[in-house]
Amino acid sequence: MSDEVKKPESAVGQPCAECNRRRFAKVGLGAIAVAGAGSAVFGYEFLSPNVLYEPSPIVDAGKPDLYPADSVTPDPQNGIYIVHGAQGIYTLSAVCTHLGCLTAWKPELGIIACPCHGSKFHIDGVRFDGPAPRPLPWLKTWVDDDGNLLVDRSEPLEKKQFVRI
Ligand code: FES
Repeated sequence: MSDEVKKPESAVGQPCAECNRRRFAKVGLGAIAVAGAGSAVFGYEFLSPNVLYEPSPIVDAGKPDLYPADSVTPDPQNGIYIVHGAQGIYTLSAVCTHLGCLTAWKPELGIIACPCHGSKFHIDGVRFDGPAPRPLPWLKTWVDDDGNLLVDRSEPLEKKQFVRI
């Protein structure tokens, strides 16, 4: 006979039943929390409106005296030309009416040319060469109360209009 104290058979190597329940409850609650958080995120995405925010079509071109007489000022970032001609200031769209490429001002030739398929335009927007079906549109241009030149790129004009300064 030895002096060794023997544990009861059922307790040897067996985790207690209470510990099993607690561990199961923790894992279960963790899984429910993860699933709930995922559902909340997807629910928010689903319910939030699908809206695209575009930049304003109105361009603030600054003071009119930035544009000296007989000048063409390209603004490729906004896709416009500000032209100060003999009758005043006007704005042309720089987007080619053929397939929408951005045209370029060629000061050495005094014309606007499209690099894509070779359309060419006079500085009043009239096409004289290439496949473009229409002239470059004139855009609504005006001076606001603070004396700044504003251009509305979303409003092509039917008739030529000049800002006289
Ligand atoms: S896009 Fe300008 S000529 Fe074709």
